[in-house]
Amino acid sequence: MARLAVLGGTPLCTHPFPEWPQRGEREVELLSEVVRSGHYGFFSGDKQFRFQQAFAHFQGARFGIAVSNATVGLQVALLAAGVGPGDEVIVPAFTWVATASVALFVGAIPVFAEIDAETFCLDPQAAEAAITSRTGAIIPVHLYGCMADLDAFMDLSEKYKIPIIEDCAHAHGSQWRGQGAGSMGHLGVFSFQETKTMSSGEGGILLTSDPTLEALCHSFINCGRLRPGDHLPQRVLGYNFRVTEFQAAVLLAALERLEDQTRKREDHARVLDRYLAEIEGILPMRRDPRVTRQGFYVYTFRWEPEAWGGATRDQFLVALQAEGIPINPLYTPVYRSELFPNASRFYPQVVGQVYAELRLPITEQVAEQVAVGLPHRVLLGSEQDVIAVVEAVAKLGANIDELRRVPVVSPSTLRD
Ligand SMILES: Cc1ncc(COP(=O)(O)O)c(C=O)c1O
Repeated sequence: MARLAVLGGTPLCTHPFPEWPQRGEREVELLSEVVRSGHYGFFSGDKQFRFQQAFAHFQGARFGIAVSNATVGLQVALLAAGVGPGDEVIVPAFTWVATASVALFVGAIPVFAEIDAETFCLDPQAAEAAITSRTGAIIPVHLYGCMADLDAFMDLSEKYKIPIIEDCAHAHGSQWRGQGAGSMGHLGVFSFQETKTMSSGEGGILLTSDPTLEALCHSFINCGRLRPGDHLPQRVLGYNFRVTEFQAAVLLAALERLEDQTRKREDHARVLDRYLAEIEGILPMRRDPRVTRQGFYVYTFRWEPEAWGGATRDQFLVALQAEGIPINPLYTPVYRSELFPNASRFYPQVVGQVYAELRLPITEQVAEQVAVGLPHRVLLGSEQDVIAVVEAVAKLGANIDELRRVPVVSPSTLRD
């Protein structure tokens, strides 16, 4: 009789993991204030201003500019940094597509660079090798549950005079040598989309400590308007990327919980690191001592193919899910996306870009054979919950013969 649940055995974990987003009376109270006040929009209420200030302060930046989502936030960051037609933007090849597509939106060309195999974040040496006279910005992403090497990226910025835009869509609460994610680069951009570790359904925020960049970002998201006291050389052609007071109300409540949740996730990630490291064929991510607080959007680890006797990572994912462990497929190499060839009609700068021929071996191996990730809500449960993950992984490790027989489905069909 089969032991693995995917082949008819008994699932190891039958109790539910915590739901996300967590929510409570505080959201109801703050949302009711908005409804009662009738101040729904950007101009009339004060919650957006309170939230921008509080979040920027929490991450250690001078200014916060709330935006409709992080995709447009990154686009505005590029515009504010002066990136435009014909410029190149260096991005990691393993990330969400928006990190790269925003370059197209401003007329620039995404240049994909290799990742670090032990953190899955943009490799600074690969980024440096990709710099040319046309490089307009570098966007390191603090991916899943690791931070990009900010010391190295700020050195590159200094050496080549290139702005750094931190993509912090996964990094709420993270700190590099005590300094908040998004506050070291020229600009930082966070997402508040539903699955993120702070959520208002959709939403985002730009952080900066530079008053000129702040005024530019504000202007770009607010139809090109200037405020009294803004000293910009000229008006900009702005969008309406503003947020509502409803989003700000929910975010104010979420921010009150962020520190405790970040600590809990980090504590449980340490437990996973410790026990998963004892299982052959599993390698937890490298923990850089300069990361003094780590926000976890996804808890990732390396599944080392050589140790699993011919079973594949995708068989492992399917089998782990059948054991009752929520697990998501991770990103595919962005340069493989069909979006880029399809975009050429509207974004002529990609015509002639040979993305289809690009080969970045670490990215491809990580994306296709090695990377495994648990959604952050798993880390918000009890210690028993995270131990259940370890036991399920160990169960697969002890039944490799069965694992090899698991029918393979595409991991993209797996849903948490
Ligand atoms: C790394 C990264 N950057 C940017 C974004 C874009 O965020 P949003 O969905 O708020 O536009 C995401 C969203 O998932 C992301 O994961």
